Amino acid sequence: MLSKAVLSLLLLTVTSVQAIWPIPETIETGDSTLWIGESLSVTYNGDKVCWFSASEHPCPLDDTMDTNIGLPTWQLPWTRNYVPFGGPKFTGKEIVKGGVSRALKNILDDNFVPWKLYPRLALEKTEPSLRKPKAYVSCLEITQTGKDTAKTFKPLAGDVDESYNLTLGTNGKATISAVSSTGVLRGLETFSQLFFQHSQGPIYTTLAPVKISDAPQYDHRGLLLDVSRNYLPLENIYRTIDALSWNKLNRLHIHATDSQSWPLEIPALPDLHQKGAYAQGMTYSPKDVAAIHTYAIQRGVEVIIEIDTPGHFGIVALSYPDLITGWGATPWSTYCAEPPCGQIQLNNPKTDAFFDKLMDDLLPRVAPYSAYFHTGGDEVNFNEYNLDPTVGTNDSAVIVPLLQKFIDKHHARVRKAGLVPMVWEEIPASYNVTIGDDVVVQSWLGDAAIKSLTGQGHKVITSNYNYWYLDCGRGQWLNIAEGESFEENWPFNDWCGPTKSWRLVYSYDPRAGLTDEEAELVLGGEVGAWAETIDEVNLDSILWPRSSAAGEVLWSGRTDAAGENRTQFDAAPRLAEFRERMLARGVRADPVQMTFCTQGGNATTCSL
Ligand SMILES: *[C@@H]1O[C@H](CO)[C@@H](O)[C@H](O)[C@H]1NC(C)=O
Ligand SMILES: *[C@@H]1O[C@H](CO)[C@@H](O)[C@H](O)[C@H]1NC(C)=O
Ligand SMILES: *[C@@H]1O[C@H](CO)[C@@H](O)[C@H](O)[C@H]1NC(C)=O
Ligand SMILES: *[C@@H]1O[C@H](CO)[C@@H](O)[C@H](O)[C@H]1NC(C)=O
Ligand SMILES: *[C@@H]1O[C@H](CO)[C@@H](O)[C@H](O)[C@H]1NC(C)=O
Repeated sequence: MLSKAVLSLLLLTVTSVQAIWPIPETIETGDSTLWIGESLSVTYNGDKVCWFSASEHPCPLDDTMDTNIGLPTWQLPWTRNYVPFGGPKFTGKEIVKGGVSRALKNILDDNFVPWKLYPRLALEKTEPSLRKPKAYVSCLEITQTGKDTAKTFKPLAGDVDESYNLTLGTNGKATISAVSSTGVLRGLETFSQLFFQHSQGPIYTTLAPVKISDAPQYDHRGLLLDVSRNYLPLENIYRTIDALSWNKLNRLHIHATDSQSWPLEIPALPDLHQKGAYAQGMTYSPKDVAAIHTYAIQRGVEVIIEIDTPGHFGIVALSYPDLITGWGATPWSTYCAEPPCGQIQLNNPKTDAFFDKLMDDLLPRVAPYSAYFHTGGDEVNFNEYNLDPTVGTNDSAVIVPLLQKFIDKHHARVRKAGLVPMVWEEIPASYNVTIGDDVVVQSWLGDAAIKSLTGQGHKVITSNYNYWYLDCGRGQWLNIAEGESFEENWPFNDWCGPTKSWRLVYSYDPRAGLTDEEAELVLGGEVGAWAETIDEVNLDSILWPRSSAAGEVLWSGRTDAAGENRTQFDAAPRLAEFRERMLARGVRADPVQMTFCTQGGNATTCSL
């Protein structure tokens, strides 16, 4: 580790660019300059990967491409924007080709001039000279040492080896080797982050030679997007998937429905969205959902759909009023966590038939693309069952057995479709419902909850709201009457403030306080973006770069190889740099520090 420390110290004095978020397991860099351009030759297991946009380098259409004739030219396979079509049958070759194409677009077209990372007005003096003879990166050799399987493209935690090695020699030869095509994608992302744009236009790195060996600490590295509180147009979901992949995050959990709206089209039950969407067109069709899955898989991201139930289900009252209890019940705080209230009737014989129909429609469309289905289960309010004609009490002695039956049947549907159920932690932890060993439990209530869940042997992902709820600290969204209530609620904080800054997100250790045995059961985590105050206008700045901070915790670990906590001094300059990269690629991430700090030469310039 000494050589690494010496190297990074050397870097600070030579240049301010740091490169690579999240930080690789091991990285050695030098200070030689290499340029990169259109002449780069890329191979994958010895075959040339065609990506050039220039017409003087025509690429043959290979046999897998026949079906894609007629695409807009910018999507043709040799262009930098290539989006492979296809699915549910995926091949590593197509996925790597798409990855190469995007990495080179990010390097050559969507790069940035790092003036914010050099001292004030010093860019021209610090960036490499254009007058000296230029050495180029001439080739990138990609080797995949293992074979992809169907599981590679819809993995359970642990199914995919995402590790990779990367080298870039001063002779201009680059290599990436990985076991899976997903690992190749991770390596390509790292490769793209080595490069910067010169103020006169060309693209360079000053970090050669480079030697990186890298692998993730956690298998489940995700983000929860809530598309029910506010509808998110598709392009926002695509853009978010791109950003996830740059951060080496690999799960997108879509909280698809809630009591506020039902945007998910279920052809077998069309009233659900026809009566439950916010407006005509604010829905996701089966084709949209398949496209989201496909887009994500091509970027090494698995989408997990959640239909939350039995709570957070009120909206179904608009289409199937007989199935819902307590729709819009008041005062809402007696019956649910936020308006409008409404839960599924727990003991209504029609409930089963409804879920059979719903799941028979949806799950076969999910199963080709994902290993998981999230069944929800948070914040079930027992008082709603006082109003439920099929239950008629809030007594847990009555409700819990009904809940157990409901969950057993529901999880059986998920398993029958070949998927693994996920639940929110209340199902086992608050309602004492017994669940299968296969079920992955999503915890949000904090460290003690994770300790207790893993102590009972549950597989867990963490979304600890004290650290990883990105919607917190934005102020109250409920209206408060003048008078006593006004005084009580002033200054109108929300329930989970303060804001979870990137520093707070970064300080969270998903395995804190656990025994080795318990820690093994923490598969990873998800940051949460509940959408009461989030829509497409502020989505990017809510998510980024704070999700990047969680991305580094999940990929690299809260602690380094020596077991020391990673520090803000190491993280802040890299994150500030990565934020510029995300901006250049079209994601409007928030600033990490003011320019005075990023131009300060080292991270101690702005410290407390
Ligand atoms: C990466 O390098 C390490 C150390 O040299 C080696 O053990 C590992 O097998 C390599 N992985 C791949 C995918 O080439
Ligand atoms: C259960 O319902 C009764 C009204 O029927 C209410 O008085 C009581 O507070 C409720 N229990 C809880 C735990 O909310
Ligand atoms: C679940 O079990 C715990 C511990 O035995 C108990 O405190 C709690 O009241 C139970 N919850 C329900 C809903 O029965
Ligand atoms: C490391 O970080 C954890 C929180 O993730 C904190 O509890 C602990 O005190 C820190 N250790 C040191 C030595 O600062
Ligand atoms: C960082 O900059 C300060 C002056 O602003 C200097 O005293 C310190 O030695 C520098 N640290 C490193 C690691 O270069």
